[in-house]
Amino acid sequence: MSTDSMPSVSVEGKTAVVIGGTRGIGRAIALGFAEDGADVVATSRSADAVERVAEELRERGAATAEVTCDVTDADSLETLRDTTIEEVGDVDILVNSAGTVAQSPITEMTDEEWQQDIEVDLTGVFTACRVFAREMDAGSIINISSMSADQAREARAAYCAAKSGVNGLTRAAAADLAPDIRVNAIAPGFVKTEMAGPKLDDGSEFRETVDERTPMGRVATPDEMVGTALYLASDAASFTTGEVITVDGGYDDSAQ
Ligand SMILES: NC(=O)c1ccc[n+]([C@@H]2O[C@H](COP(=O)([O-])OP(=O)(O)OC[C@H]3O[C@@H](n4cnc5c(N)ncnc54)[C@H](O)[C@@H]3O)[C@@H](O)[C@H]2O)c1
Repeated sequence: MSTDSMPSVSVEGKTAVVIGGTRGIGRAIALGFAEDGADVVATSRSADAVERVAEELRERGAATAEVTCDVTDADSLETLRDTTIEEVGDVDILVNSAGTVAQSPITEMTDEEWQQDIEVDLTGVFTACRVFAREMDAGSIINISSMSADQAREARAAYCAAKSGVNGLTRAAAADLAPDIRVNAIAPGFVKTEMAGPKLDDGSEFRETVDERTPMGRVATPDEMVGTALYLASDAASFTTGEVITVDGGYDDSAQ
């Protein structure tokens, strides 16, 4: 293949929406896309957080819009989509990074905790895919799943079930939306964000176990999810759809 026809790992000139993009992994992806030349709308439920990240996006040269959204509210997702189209441009890339995690053993998990994780982590991804795909002519949808989709996690029944659902949803949506819209997922391992919380702090017992079980010997920074997102969003991934790409530093639960 000549370099002239080499597909580019770039999102320059594209318009991206990153839901859950005001913090953690979503924010890193939103800023990474902006640095690469995309226009980006990064959103969550907090107007203050949306305003702060919009400023960071503008500093990187991106056009943006300030709009909040709650993934459990389909109307707010429609408003997000329509505002983006009106104020920024037709959406080429959707990243679903909103997430929450209930932490209770199954015998103590309440109905509310179960429903909250399923509604945000699974139904929210479904609703966002549906709302945006209806108005996307072509492009790429990236769902942020988790390695917990395929591994046992103590006291995370709802989260693990939701993330397994995201992987199934990703494959099914890819089949429905081909060939124009590609749908893939990224399954991160342990990433140091507010969601992961103090248990991943240096020196904690849990962190030591994670480091031992991770061939890379550490947890990830949010920035380390950006390269995979850039690839999946770009034309370089033109034949990649329905895939779940694990980015976990080689983590192995069974390693002693
Ligand atoms: N941090 C990790 O170790 C890790 C590992 C695997 C997967 N993940 C997944 O990555 C994604 C991002 O997680 P993070 O660690 O960056 O977490 P985070 O808590 O730092 O960020 C989550 C974002 O989602 C937003 N959000 C939460 N509920 C929302 C709702 N109802 N509507 C709209 N926005 C909402 C929050 O405001 C925040 O901006 C999540 O889906 C999470 O499950 C994280």
